[in-house]
Order: sequence, then C-alpha cells, then structure tokens
Amino acid sequence: MYVLGIDVGTGGTRALIINEKGRVISSATEEHEPFASPQIGWAEQQPEDWWRACGIAVKRALAQGNLDGDRIACAGFSGQMHGAVMLDDGDRVVRPALIWCDVRTEQQCVDFTRKIGAELLIKLTCNPALPNFTLTKFLWVQKNEPENWRRVRSVMLPKDYVRFRLTGSRAIDVADASGTLLLDVANRRWSDRILEAAEIDRSLLPALHESPDVCGEVSAAGARETGLKQGTPVVAGAGDQAAGATGMGIVTPGAVSATIGTSGVVFAATDRPALDAKGRLHTFCHAVPGRWHVMGVTQAAGLSLRWFRDRFGAGADDGRDPYERLTSDAAKVPSGSEGLLWAPYLMGERTPHLDPNARGALIGLTASHTRGHIIRAILEGVAFSLRDSFTLFQEMKVPVKSIRLGGGGARSPLWRQIQADVYGHEVEIVEAEEGAAYGAALLAGVGAKMWSSVDEACNATVRVARRIAPQPEAVQQMNKSYSAYRRIYPAIRSILE
Ligand code: XUL
Repeated sequence: MYVLGIDVGTGGTRALIINEKGRVISSATEEHEPFASPQIGWAEQQPEDWWRACGIAVKRALAQGNLDGDRIACAGFSGQMHGAVMLDDGDRVVRPALIWCDVRTEQQCVDFTRKIGAELLIKLTCNPALPNFTLTKFLWVQKNEPENWRRVRSVMLPKDYVRFRLTGSRAIDVADASGTLLLDVANRRWSDRILEAAEIDRSLLPALHESPDVCGEVSAAGARETGLKQGTPVVAGAGDQAAGATGMGIVTPGAVSATIGTSGVVFAATDRPALDAKGRLHTFCHAVPGRWHVMGVTQAAGLSLRWFRDRFGAGADDGRDPYERLTSDAAKVPSGSEGLLWAPYLMGERTPHLDPNARGALIGLTASHTRGHIIRAILEGVAFSLRDSFTLFQEMKVPVKSIRLGGGGARSPLWRQIQADVYGHEVEIVEAEEGAAYGAALLAGVGAKMWSSVDEACNATVRVARRIAPQPEAVQQMNKSYSAYRRIYPAIRSILE
C-alpha cells in the first residue's frame, strides 16, 4: 500500500510517495513561477500555476516509482500557509493570491485590532493581527479593490485551492485555518465574532476538518491532470509547518523543531493552546487532533542565503551545488565571523519584533572581511533569529527536550553545527528529512488506516539518523555574538524611522 503527500510550497510543488514503513518510494518537484512583487512588501502568485505544478509533480512521482494511480490508497496535502485565494461564482480566480510573505496590510491590522481590541483579539483567535494572516489580506481587497471583493463567492488557502481542483471539495484543516485569524484556535472552530466584525459571510469559507480526516476524493478531471485514480480519498492535511513538524515526529510536548526553508520556524508541540500575551509567537492547532503548537517565524531565513546567491553569485561553477559552494567559503571563517553580524529582516520580521517594516543589516564590516565572512554571518544571523524564539519559549515555560532540524538548515553540515552552537543544545537530524510533503503523506496514511493515529504513524516511521553536539568554545562565542545581535534591531529601527 502506498500513500501520497503533496506540498504546495512557495518555490514549487512537491509530490512524495511512501510505503507503510514510511520509506520514500519516489518524489518529484515542479517549480512555480517566482512570486511577483509589484511593490515593496507585496507578494503574489497565480493559483493556476500551483495546480499546473501539482499535475506535473504527481505524474512524475508516479512514473518515477513505476506506479499506476490505483496503487495510491490516499493523498494528503500540505502547503504554504496564510495565502488568500478568492474565487467568483464560476470558481474562477478573482485576482492573484496574496501570499504569506505579502505584508501590505499593516493598516488593516491596525484598523481591525482597534475595532476588536488587542486583548479580545488574542482571546478569540490566540493570535494578534499580523500582515501575514489571511483575514488581513481579505480586508485589504475589501478596502482597495471593492469591485474584486464584490465578485468573491468563496475563499481558500493555497493548498486547499489545489485540492479543490483535484477533488471539487472546498475543505480546510484546523492547522492551516489557524493562520487565517478567522479561527477560534482554542476551540477548533470558525469564530463567528471575528467573521461578523470582518463582514465576511461564513458561506465563503471551506468546511473545517481535523488534519487526518478524509475530506474528498479525486474527481474525473483531477484524475486526468494527475494520473491518480478517480475516487482516491484525500485527507485535509495541514499547513506546511504543522505537516513538516509531523514528518519529523514533533507531535508531543517537549519535542521542538527548527526548520530553515524560505522562512525559518521554531515549532513546539503542546497539549494546550499556549498563549503569548504579546502575540510574538503564533499559537495554532496542530495536525494532531486535540493538540496545539506554538511557533516563532523568521521571515527571511533561507531567503537570506538565496538573496545573497541571487544578487552576488555562488562563486565559480566547479560542478558542486551552489549552496555547497557558498557554505564551503563560510566554513573557512571562524565562529563569530570575526565580528560581522547579519540581521535577516529582508521581508520585515515576525518573531519577536512583529514589524513588517523591519529592515536587514550587515553590521561590523572591515577591509579584512571576505565573501566567506559575509556568508557565515548570514548563516549565524539566521540562527540567532531562530534563537529569539527559544528565548520566548523559556519565558512562556514551553518545554524543550529535543531539537530536530529541518529544511536546508538540516542539510548543510555547517549550518547544522552553527545551529547546535547558537542554540547551545544538541540537535537531531531525522532519517527521512523530506519536509512537509512527508508529513502530508503520513496524514494520508492515517486517512487510509495504514496507521491508527498520527502518533502511531510517527512512531512507525520517524527515526533519528544523527545527533550533533554543541562545541563548548563556539557556544561561548555564539552567546557573545547573540547578545550583540539582540541590539541590532532597536538600533536600526532608530536609524530608519
Ligand atoms: C508560517 C509561514 C511560512 C509559510 C511558508 O507561518 O508563513 O512558513 O507557510 O511556506
């Protein structure tokens, strides 16, 4: 028996097939068009492009695994969170989707917070209004494009649009719905109070499910585009963070992950909705029924390194992967980058500053610094930014027993070591470091009754492949650099205001 996970990411859509032992049989990715940024802080993608990429990725994964569609017992989705997809009465996309890193909605956040009251908003949704969250994007369209908003008959998140094309069902899971600011996260249901205040009709919203629940089946049209069999059940799945954490076995309190993809996320599973009264961490439902999680988000984590690569190049092509070339330059530089510091606020920042206008900075340059110093400072700065979330976990008494690394930050040996040194804690790498698509496949496996629960799915499949210990001298150096790093944000804010 096989199950399929489909991750509708920012850069591309990935399809991944596993068997009942959790072994990866095949996987394939099709890239998306890069997001458009017609104005500073804007980020838009075409939902149709995600569906195109899904069809190609699933077909390729099936072909690569030498499997016919009828061998797939169930499919599950994960995806970039928070994006606003709006459809008209013919289910046509009304305008390009405003995606998670679009931060144009600061005014809407201020206005909505004023309307509800900051405290009550956190009480109702467990979170403050942030420009990333979907509701604020709908409010922006209501205000700035009323002719578009009038045509909207249904709304959904990115992966849910792709599922809609695959199955015809309008569905969402509580984990991804938590990032809309429309969910009563503590009670796992839509918040009538918020819907009313936002003047959003409940009939626009998709049906809510727990992540491992079957919520639709592949339609004839969906089968044609993907090679899956018509009638294949599809589970609700989860936003990429909850799905990725599930794939790494981060499902019980004490288990924490630090994932560096485009964004960077520190994620802890909890058995209660753990609120930060200041809203600096997100409190969302987990992909495990009856559990929640808290997470801190760095907007431009992997994006910092990618930005460097795209703007300044990866060095002479010697056949190696560009990121390997970049990090091997950085590996020649000692811990602490000889005083050079990077603040990764290229797309504003969420945790801990909640400031869409924050700006990045490279501090402490001298004539003796090299390319390698800058790259190492970027790797360290991103890790410092993730450490800010651990600092908040301490304040909130969220337990941290083990830290598992995910994403690009887990694949690079240098970035792994830097993270162990910056967090001052052993870090673990799991065997199938396959990201959110793997978690989506596990959820599909629970939907297919391959495993009886998400916990059982994780116990049966997730294995630690290696542990990396912090190096005491580097930890000391990183502690010093971290306290300097903490002073950058207030300083640049005072300069750029
Ligand atoms: C999480 C978040 C990002 C996106 C990127 O809150 O905004 O991780 O989901 O894929």
